[in-house]
Amino acid sequence: MEIASVTRIEEARALSVTWTDGRTARFHAIWLRDNALDPQTRAANNGQRLITVLDYPEDTAIETASTDGQSLSVCFSPEGKEASFPADWLAQQAYDCPVPPTRGWTGEAITRWNSVLSNSIPSTDFTAVRTDPRTLAGWLSAVRRYGFAVMTGLRKESGALLEVAELFGYVRETNYGRWFEVRSEVNPVNLAYTGLGLQAHTDNPYRDPVPTLQLLACLENSADGGDSMVVDGFKAVETLQQETPDHFDLLARYAARFEYAGSDGIRLRSKRPMIDLGPDGELRGVRFNNRSAAPFTDIPYDDMPKYYAAYRHLAEIIERPESEISFKMAPGDLFIVDNTRVLHARKGFSGAGSRWLQGCYADKDGLLSTLAALEETLPEAAE
Ligand code: FE2
Repeated sequence: MEIASVTRIEEARALSVTWTDGRTARFHAIWLRDNALDPQTRAANNGQRLITVLDYPEDTAIETASTDGQSLSVCFSPEGKEASFPADWLAQQAYDCPVPPTRGWTGEAITRWNSVLSNSIPSTDFTAVRTDPRTLAGWLSAVRRYGFAVMTGLRKESGALLEVAELFGYVRETNYGRWFEVRSEVNPVNLAYTGLGLQAHTDNPYRDPVPTLQLLACLENSADGGDSMVVDGFKAVETLQQETPDHFDLLARYAARFEYAGSDGIRLRSKRPMIDLGPDGELRGVRFNNRSAAPFTDIPYDDMPKYYAAYRHLAEIIERPESEISFKMAPGDLFIVDNTRVLHARKGFSGAGSRWLQGCYADKDGLLSTLAALEETLPEAAE
């Protein structure tokens, strides 16, 4: 896309750029100067900025501006510095857009879901993902979009789940180890290691930062029951907001507390809201875990009953059949969840047969980085 015209505005403190498709956006002189792409401003080899905000004048303005269609050429005053910006780059960086109107918005890369997704669970075979970068990009992109995906065909051996984490990043080791066993134990240190059903939850909200990805692989699953379930926390809080906006606001405004103290030498504590919003209202995360919720002590007395009503309301939404996807894992199956968004649960299972899963954590920023790099090299690797 080419630039059609450029005009100095606001006493040369800004520019108005119009592209050939009719789009228009304003850019401030100070923003353009800070983001100049020349080798004195940005290192040519790694793209990192070589200057600080103190290295150009506070009264930076546009001395001249012109375009040949392909790029914008600017001379900044009082420095007399010249810089040019490709038309496409400028269009991608435009910030002169309306602010999303509602709290709890998410970007285009995220699609919220409910039980309807049961008919099209994103799933790929391990061998295909390992040998074909395009298939890997497709699987990672499903994780980015849905916060959940299945993989089949893993080696049915202890530790095989690490090979999946290594496809896109690194395992995040915790006090539970590099990976942890999820099977019935006598005197378990965690209720996960029993046959009890577990309410849908995000893992380890008592950590700060929380583990952003969880992988769970199945080695044995012949017990009665023990089905796995996942719930889109982003969809659940959207429903909460639609049904009772005050409930959404209460869980976003006040911090909950979470704690794990089930092992010697471990006292993990966090103070974070159940609905985590960015400063611009973007929905960034959901924390929900009855087993590790600590006493809530950061909610004013007068609001505590309403807070509990909101907490109960969210729990009820999460329990609705239309919220969940349920499936039974077979040996060699794995599923991954974005632990900042998607809750997982387990139905209770009996002593007959056996159920043995292994879990590990990894980091979503590493997954998104691998995906973005793949998308640059495989531009047609769209979802
Ligand atoms: Fe869990």
